[in-house]
Amino acid sequence: MKTACIKSFELGNMDNFVHLIYDTASKRAAVVDPAWDVSDIINFVKAQGLTLTDILLTHSHYDHINGLSMIRDAYPEAKIHLSTAEASFWGNAPKTAILHQDNDVIQLGETAIKVLFTPGHTPGSVCYYFDDKVVTGDSLFIYGCGRCDLPGGDAAELFHSLKDLVARVSPDTLVYSGHDYGVEKVTTLAAQVAGNPFLHCATSAAFVHYRMIEHDQTRRSPFTPVLRA
Ligand SMILES: [Fe+2]
Repeated sequence: MKTACIKSFELGNMDNFVHLIYDTASKRAAVVDPAWDVSDIINFVKAQGLTLTDILLTHSHYDHINGLSMIRDAYPEAKIHLSTAEASFWGNAPKTAILHQDNDVIQLGETAIKVLFTPGHTPGSVCYYFDDKVVTGDSLFIYGCGRCDLPGGDAAELFHSLKDLVARVSPDTLVYSGHDYGVEKVTTLAAQVAGNPFLHCATSAAFVHYRMIEHDQTRRSPFTPVLRA
């Protein structure tokens, strides 16, 4: 049974999506990666009669956390969640943050949000999986995936993370990514398996080559489906 809704905000000058998950029974809300002008989110939370109780971070890049202090000022009681590995990588996580491992469950009212550890874009990136939805941050984009050339990035690690993600998440799950880089804003995971070239690489070496060299030479957003060769 679905217990939660999601509202996506496209904010800032880097095409970021900031997603708000809210549990319909308890009216508790969790914001994922608060960044840019988060007053839009605060206004929505107030207008809907919700209480923002949790802040979920997929990773610690600036364009995903630069609204954190504004959200914390508005909701000082809200709990911050990220992975232990990302906190170590970041080195600047709030001391009160709750640190997670793979498969941890964050309970938002009646909604169970599972933490899926998907390192590669950063050493501690995670996805958040609930109902028939998964919020993927910069691990998986619509017909794309996160870059691995920034500090802490590891394309071979992301190859395994994405393989695990596909194995663990139901095909009909809707994918909510961290940036609006695709020709569609949301698709099913099955559509990504069919048309996302990063999910077509048979080996880690092929993925690393495609991610680190070939992709940036051949594709520009908005990313379109690529049929499996
Ligand atoms: Fe990122």
